Amino acid sequence: MTTATRDRAPIDDRITIDQLTRDPYAIYRRLRAEAPVLRIKALGRTLLTRAEHTRHAKGTPEIFSTDDPDTPMQRAFLAHTLMRKDGAEHQRERDAMAPTFSGRNIKNCWTPIYTRIAKQFVSSLPRGETVDLFPALAGPFAAHCLKHLLGIEEASDEEMQRWSQHLIDGAGNFGWRDEPFVRSDRSNAEMDALFERVIPRHLAEPNPSALSMMVNAEDPIPSSQIHANVKIAIGGGINEPRDALLTILFGLLTNPDQLAACKADGLWTAAFEEGVRWVAPIQVSSRRVKEDIEIGGYLIPAGDTVMTAQASANHDEDLYEQPERYDIFRPKQPHQAFGNGPHFCQGTHIARRMLADILLPMLFDRFPDMTLPDPSQVTFWGFGFRGPLNLPVTLN
Ligand code: HEM
Repeated sequence: MTTATRDRAPIDDRITIDQLTRDPYAIYRRLRAEAPVLRIKALGRTLLTRAEHTRHAKGTPEIFSTDDPDTPMQRAFLAHTLMRKDGAEHQRERDAMAPTFSGRNIKNCWTPIYTRIAKQFVSSLPRGETVDLFPALAGPFAAHCLKHLLGIEEASDEEMQRWSQHLIDGAGNFGWRDEPFVRSDRSNAEMDALFERVIPRHLAEPNPSALSMMVNAEDPIPSSQIHANVKIAIGGGINEPRDALLTILFGLLTNPDQLAACKADGLWTAAFEEGVRWVAPIQVSSRRVKEDIEIGGYLIPAGDTVMTAQASANHDEDLYEQPERYDIFRPKQPHQAFGNGPHFCQGTHIARRMLADILLPMLFDRFPDMTLPDPSQVTFWGFGFRGPLNLPVTLN
């Protein structure tokens, strides 16, 4: 992807963020066919919509840096988190949390804890009633699991969800308005105070949680970065499992034959992978181009910011037939919902476990005849992050 064209990618001044928030998939389908490398004015970025291009950008960190100075993320987090660092500096901070996510800890520590949490949540759901599973299960379950993983059990589920949303709103505040930063500042102060309060407990009793692993490391990263990276996990560890769960349930409940096969043959992992492919919880990422390069026949000059739409990559017709269908039986094909390259999602395996191995089978075991009375009431929403805003199901 590096020859000598001097043509810049075409510019679009019609696509709006509002359109991308409501129905990105129709736009992405058109762009993959007509303009897969496109400078979108409303985004101030060059949007890449083909799987080949998005994978290349994320998998070539020497050219595509995550250190994007134009994003409000640093302001929202009051820090430079590992998600915006490159090379050895990124690796050192990522490694500091890595033991928490090891296969051994997932098996011996997190699976029993997450199973206990899932039982509490599922057994408290009322049989025979119609309940919105967003507030009743998906949001608080994701928050409750995450606070154990991070070592901040003292936080309430409500606080975890509020902090996460404030960080996300601040990081997405591309208009640089004051109000989202006022809220993220308040949440930052609350989180910092909590971390300081619980660190003595972790020093006294080391355990596999992320905070404990980082403060007890032989050569710890600076405490400002420990705080920043627990926050990035709060900002990035609730919405995605929450939205993935609701999306998978929507897919299964609107395709009864697939749900029946899952129940009969335990195909929950296929249901999970297809759910995150179908509607990627994190739809786009940004990378700054460090040197002049060509993508799809166009020059992308050094300093430009590309936006990789993994949501679109996961619907690329070169890889998937009828990509807009939720189909757990489709031929296996790697997707990009967890990213690729050095910033590949650290929570991938734990997210798979918590939903495919633990929650989904438990939920349908207790409510085998669950239905979605009116799928047309469900609203999928979001450009950067995407999932259903509600999921009113009848629990039987
Ligand atoms: C279905 C669930 C999830 C999805 C689809 C998802 C998706 C992603 C994606 C696409 C990225 C890469 C962003 C980029 O390339 O710029 C990422 C990074 C990350 N995710 Fe997840 N995520 C999920 C769950 C989780 C959970 C439960 C955690 C737990 C803490 C987590 C922690 C992280 C962290 C720490 C990073 C940054 C890694 C780095 O920059 O090195 N994720 N995630």
